[in-house]
Amino acid sequence: MLFHPCSQMKDHEQFPPLEIVRAEGPYLYTADRRRLIDPISSWWCKSLGHGHPRIRAAVAAQAERFEHVILAGTVNRTIAELTEHLAALLPGKRRVFYGGDGSTAVEIALKMAVHAMIIRGETKRTRFMALENGYHGETALTLAVSDLGIYKEPYRALAPDYPMLTGIPYCSGVDDPLFADCGAAWPTLEAQLEREKETLCALIVEPVVQGAGGMLIYSADLLRRLRVWTAQNGIYLIADEIMTGFYRTGTQLAVDHAGITPDLVCLSKGLTAGWAAMSAVVLSGELYDLFYADYGTGRDFLHSNTYAGNALAAAAALEAQKIYDDEKIAGRVAATAPVLRRLMQEVATETKLLTNVRGIGMIAAADIKPEFIKAPRTGYRVYRRAVELGALLRPLGNTIYWLPPLNISLETLEELKEITTRALNETLG
Ligand SMILES: Cc1ncc(COP(=O)(O)O)c(C=O)c1O
Repeated sequence: MLFHPCSQMKDHEQFPPLEIVRAEGPYLYTADRRRLIDPISSWWCKSLGHGHPRIRAAVAAQAERFEHVILAGTVNRTIAELTEHLAALLPGKRRVFYGGDGSTAVEIALKMAVHAMIIRGETKRTRFMALENGYHGETALTLAVSDLGIYKEPYRALAPDYPMLTGIPYCSGVDDPLFADCGAAWPTLEAQLEREKETLCALIVEPVVQGAGGMLIYSADLLRRLRVWTAQNGIYLIADEIMTGFYRTGTQLAVDHAGITPDLVCLSKGLTAGWAAMSAVVLSGELYDLFYADYGTGRDFLHSNTYAGNALAAAAALEAQKIYDDEKIAGRVAATAPVLRRLMQEVATETKLLTNVRGIGMIAAADIKPEFIKAPRTGYRVYRRAVELGALLRPLGNTIYWLPPLNISLETLEELKEITTRALNETLG
């Protein structure tokens, strides 16, 4: 009866879905008594692994008080404390608006930006610009600002055609000189921005790493330059930190690599450490002030999601934020990230099947060399073999990547390396 997300159901004739009966830390346990590593943190959200006991207790305690109450016109201590924490992620006066999932947060940010332009009287500025290979969600508008044909193609008629910035200075990580200086690439990028600026309301980016596009890392200097350019031209900068937020790239937010403050920041996934659907948009005080007026004067932001600020999700999120501090997750990431990257390099060296090894924080990736991509769906075949061997590796096309829980142990990473190596060798070698 189930229609699985992001799947061709016919594939299950050959390869049935795994029946999960339990999940703990970095591991999934199946009904047929197998244990699999979850090296992609269940679509990038289980930042503290599965079943963290403190979050379980916080959610249970909240359930004893109440599980959900409409957020319009109400407040509670959990959401108030969480909001204070999120507002403090960025300097200056900030406000926090809650949504249901990641795509919704991006829609909220896009709607706020366009609405703010109307309030400012800049009614010609209705268009968005985004980066090539970017991904921002699955709703019609978030697909419109995404650049991934396979997800977007059938729905092109639903959404406007927005310009994509091309020639992004991609690099291998923070130690690549390009990460700190992309001056040589900037003139052609700036020329594209200048061509569009009269009608632009906002530029949206996944800061530093583009996830669904293939774990592509780009220069933090580009972010700095985009921040300066957007500010000079009165255009909003939206940072989609849905995958990167909360230490995934080594810093609390990925924009911290560039030391910039966007106008709007979208958060989800690591916000609740993957415990519940929740997203938040952190916006600047200037933007908030535009919406503060007498009712009915065109300045009311009337977006609503039933589960905005859901109390169980908020309890999970608040506890997750405390755990990031108490368990010194930033320090753990700093210690583990070089190992993650080294192990991916070892897979590439030992198998001779991978190229373009890259990594930042707790993300490591490499591409299958073109000469080994002889049949369609090569990455999918690697996935099937890896699952049989004990890791839910889900390559993005022909990109092999790891994005494990931030607190994964070195032993589990070694095990993951062995499984990835075998899956590649046995599929392609
Ligand atoms: C950068 C980015 N933006 C938006 C989304 C969409 O989030 P959701 O799947 O919760 O709608 C994702 C999901 O992977 C993402 O990686």
